[in-house]
Amino acid sequence: MRTIRVELGRNSYEILIGAGLLGQAGRRLREHGFAGKLVIITDPTVDRLHGESLKKGLAKDFTVTTLLVPEGEAQKSLETASRLYQELTDARAERNTPILALGGGVIGDLAGFVAATYQRGVPLIQLPTTLLAQVDSSIGGKVAVDHGQLKNQVGAFYQPKLVVADITTLKTLPPDEFANGLAEVIKSAAIRNRTIFAFLEDNLDRIKSLDDAALEETVFQTAKIKAGVVEKDETDTGLRNILNYGHTIGHAVEAVSGFTMKHGQAVAIGMVAAARISRKMGMLTESEVSRLKDLIEKAGLPSSLPDISISRIIESMQHDKKVQHSRIRFILLRSLGDAFVTDEVSPALVEQVLNETT
Ligand SMILES: NC(=O)c1ccc[n+]([C@@H]2O[C@H](COP(=O)([O-])OP(=O)(O)OC[C@H]3O[C@@H](n4cnc5c(N)ncnc54)[C@H](O)[C@@H]3O)[C@@H](O)[C@H]2O)c1
Ligand SMILES: [Zn+2]
Repeated sequence: MRTIRVELGRNSYEILIGAGLLGQAGRRLREHGFAGKLVIITDPTVDRLHGESLKKGLAKDFTVTTLLVPEGEAQKSLETASRLYQELTDARAERNTPILALGGGVIGDLAGFVAATYQRGVPLIQLPTTLLAQVDSSIGGKVAVDHGQLKNQVGAFYQPKLVVADITTLKTLPPDEFANGLAEVIKSAAIRNRTIFAFLEDNLDRIKSLDDAALEETVFQTAKIKAGVVEKDETDTGLRNILNYGHTIGHAVEAVSGFTMKHGQAVAIGMVAAARISRKMGMLTESEVSRLKDLIEKAGLPSSLPDISISRIIESMQHDKKVQHSRIRFILLRSLGDAFVTDEVSPALVEQVLNETT
């Protein structure tokens, strides 16, 4: 097992990463001072696949209530939150009753939002079961629901008390969900650590074959990058922006595809395009651009645009949150492992690069 401590003053917490950790969650929670009642929020698939190993380890010491939420982004809503508040009340959950978010990013964001607001906040434990959730969404305290057409429109910064990433759960992930998480893994290495980028290049086959040691190392190193960025910018006023590498174009591609394309696939295309923009602005070598593109393709992710309208992508980018004073905000790479934020990218250059990314 590997441990990362996220240093955020009185909001500090640990991330535990390893094989078979769900079964030990009861002991870990006791060590962290929890006792009595607790509530698990999860979805039916995750409950069926991994609920049992978690609950077995909790049975001895805790009174467990499980609340099920159907799968899918549509559940990240105030309606579902409202239903959960009622179910928590029915289960007599109190101020000190921890909520365990067992699942992917949807469950983590939703259960986190509910934990942040129910009775002005109850302890939140993240038990991420997708690769994306283990390396990204369970860390950093952003919790939210969607509202109207807008993603994450209503939310809070609410740090968990503990994150337990059991890499064994990744073995039941559908391959496209695994690839989805690999996009964020590659992103983290690309923005922050070229040694880890090289590790990914050397070990991708082992990672994709779900080798325990390779998975543990990958989740550990990537989670550490995210934690390090969050420590420096807990409330997202500066550095944390670099985690959006590939997301400026990625979000637009996702939206224009009518969300038929998965987030990680769209971000993969966005990362390659942003690398080419970096190159054209005099940064990043041609060979670094190729290394990024090769790694993305080897991970089973797309590196070029499908047949969708480039002008609609640009239009969609101009409506995105990341536009400041009508300039589109980009994250670019000076070199592999070194990202920065800029609003100096011209729409003409974006268009040129997108035309070359088909
Ligand atoms: N809070 C943050 O900082 C942050 C960061 C990135 C993304 N997000 C959010 O995360 C969400 C996406 O999360 P996601 O990619 O994990 O998708 P997800 O939560 O929708 O999970 C994907 C699917 O995988 C299934 N699943 C989960 N674990 C499984 C397992 N171990 N085996 C088999 N199936 C499993 C789920 O039932 C679901 O159908 C989005 O809502 C996004 O906004 C939040
Ligand atoms: Zn993302």
